[in-house]
Order: sequence, then C-alpha cells, then structure tokens
Amino acid sequence: MLDWLVPMDGPEIIARAQSLARHSDSPQHYTRTYLTPAHQAAARQIEGWMREAGMAVRTDAVGNVIGRYEGAAPGARALMIGSHFDSVRNGGKYDGNLGILLGIGCVDALHRRKERLPVAIEVAAFADEEGARFQTSFLSSRALVHGFDAKLAERRDAQGVTLGDAMRAVGLDPARAGEARLKPDRLAGYMEVHIEQGPVLLKEGHALGVVTVIAAGARHAMKVIGEAGHAGTVPMAMRHDALAAAAEMVLAIERRACAPGLVGTVGLLEVKDGTGNVIPGEVRFTVDIRSGDGDLLAAAQREVFADLDEIAARRGVKLEGNRTHDVRAVPCPAAMQDQVAAAIERVTGARPARRLPSGAGHDAMVMADITEVGMMFVRCGAGGVSHNPAETVSAEDAVLALAALEDFARHFAPPARPR
Ligand code: GLV
Ligand code: MN
Ligand code: MN
Repeated sequence: MLDWLVPMDGPEIIARAQSLARHSDSPQHYTRTYLTPAHQAAARQIEGWMREAGMAVRTDAVGNVIGRYEGAAPGARALMIGSHFDSVRNGGKYDGNLGILLGIGCVDALHRRKERLPVAIEVAAFADEEGARFQTSFLSSRALVHGFDAKLAERRDAQGVTLGDAMRAVGLDPARAGEARLKPDRLAGYMEVHIEQGPVLLKEGHALGVVTVIAAGARHAMKVIGEAGHAGTVPMAMRHDALAAAAEMVLAIERRACAPGLVGTVGLLEVKDGTGNVIPGEVRFTVDIRSGDGDLLAAAQREVFADLDEIAARRGVKLEGNRTHDVRAVPCPAAMQDQVAAAIERVTGARPARRLPSGAGHDAMVMADITEVGMMFVRCGAGGVSHNPAETVSAEDAVLALAALEDFARHFAPPARPR
C-alpha cells in the first residue's frame, strides 16, 4: 500500500497520547487545567493534528478546538466526535485525550482515502470537562449547548486568578464567550469514545463496550466553621474543632454511599491556616455523590445533608454548602447504542457487544440536551484504574477502537430526535 494510504495505527495513537501529556502544568506529573500555558500548548498540538488529517479548524469563544471534515455535500449536518483535553490533578493520559485522538484518526483514515460521508465529521476537543482549576465541570460543552454562564467569569482559581482574566490572558473575551453556542440543527449526532475508567471490560475480556446510561451526579463545596484556638489550652469538651467535625462528616457520607446503587466521595479537604498547634477553625471539603438512578441520588443527598446538619449542631460548628455540579442520569438512546454495538460486533467479532453503564461523567451528558448521543468504552488496563497516573490503554485496543469508530462513522444513520 502507498504510504499516504496507511491509516493511523495503535502505536501511533498511544505515542500521540504520550506526546500530548508532555503539555502539563506540573513538571512532576500530568496535570492540565483550563487555560494554563500547558493547556494552550496542547490545544495547538491538537489543532496541528486536525489540520494534518484534512480538517478545517476553529477555536471557539471558550477555547474548544473543533475540526471539521466536510461531507459529500458541503454544509452537511455533522456527526460530532468529541471528548476533553483537560485533566484532573495527577491524572491519566487517556482520560478524554483518547477520544479526541481517535476522532482525529478516524478523519485521517477517511481523508487518506479521499472518502466523504453523507454527514460531515466535526472532532470537538473540549477545553474544560473536569473543571479542576475553577470547579467548573463541563464548562466547555455547556458553552456549546446552553451558552457561557457569565457568572463563571468571576470564579477564582487557587491563586486568586479569575476565570475572566485567565480567558483574557489567552486572547479569549469573556464578554463574547456566549458566541460558542452551537445551532443544534447543525448536528446529526454526537459520539464519544472514552476509556472505561473501571475494570468491567478488562475482567470480562472485552476490548470495547457500548454505554447504556451515564450516571447522575451532584457535587457540593462545603465549609465547616468552628473556632480556632490554642491546641494546648482549650479543654477537649470546650472545643469546636472544624476538622474533627469534618472528619465525622466524611465518614457519615461514606456510610450513606455504601447503600446499593450509590457512590460517594470526599476528594478534597483543606484546613484553613492549618498549623500543628492550632485547633482547626475552618475546613473546606467537597462532596461528590452519584447514582444511575436520579431518585436514589436525590434521596441520598437529603439523608447525607440531614446527617451533616446533625453533626454540625451536636459539635457546635456552622456548616455552609454550595452545589457546584448537578447532572441527571443520561441514557444513550437505543438507536445510537445499536449502531455502536453493530460497529463493535463487525470489527471485533464479539457477539453480542458488551453493554454497560458509565459511572463517570462525560461531555456526552451535556450534548444529549441538543442531539442524540452514543458512547463507546475502550478497555482500561492496569486493573481498570483511572484518575490515576497508572491509567493505561493497549495499542491493540486502541486500533480496535479506531476501526470501530471508523466503521460507526461510515454506517452512521442519524436517529430521529423525539420531540
Ligand atoms: C469525570 O471525570 C467525572 O468526574 O466523572
Ligand atoms: Mn476524568
Ligand atoms: Mn473523561
């Protein structure tokens, strides 16, 4: 075969993921948060790969990088293939990035063969899904779907930089961020390929899977206000120790979240002005609770917050809370699941394709508000860990995922959207 006809292979996808991860906010590990220099360098690298694959590229008003490969008829509706290129702190190199690289690989293969589909393909590299810097999960897909929420421009990162200033520093204008909003009738559907971030496919010996539903999730930023005091002089019975109260709260959350169908996590806990000989006066922590069942999630939150109020009252501390994130469970429509399953079955020979829910959140949850969404999972190596630097994907699975995505795109029939 001529060189230019050879499509991207698994090792190339893995090499690109490794190379992209060099754009990191930290020299010690892979962390890439919204609008940092590393984030912008990654955006430019993605843009370069999109152009090489034959796409026209635009950076939108919130920093998403979107490449378009025209369909057989210019101006056709687009199948959007997307995922995110920001990360959690000290995260894995494939979370988000894999879906973008596979989308580019899919277009690259079509372009080399000079093949045009009935739909255009737009590969969307979302700039802020994890929200690690400004606590703004899904900021960038929400901007496409619902417009930019102007209040977010006032949010500050840990250094006190506002999101608005961070935008201005990279040439984005917060006053014009609303222009990122898409006209929904431009889309024929949305597809996201993502590592599973769990052990199910690995344990059962499947390279790829079809996502059935994406779990509902809620996140809260909590503040416990006690009374700072001298660690040597205040008798134990007279203290209002904010950290001891928060510790009891963390365990109460864990106890409630152990009920079937729920998960709950306190992933961040900070003692304000913490010092070894000072009784903690103020503690901040986050609460993340998720379930595939929205009613169960709502009930669990009521119970958790009743527990936290009781602990605060008994210990004489004040509790403040602020919901930062709230998404309902999003089912992937059967018509999209079946098309993803058919592609996996044609490419891997596995019959039937494994269908499984997603406990993790994805941009597809937001895109579902304006178009029909499908998701394919790729087996996660290293025991299925993710949000962890040990996260891996094999080159063999990457090439299967690429083939299945191409197959999906070639056979894609836009499902009718129920009214
Ligand atoms: C996204 O990574 C999530 O927290 O589910
Ligand atoms: Mn993630
Ligand atoms: Mn992700």
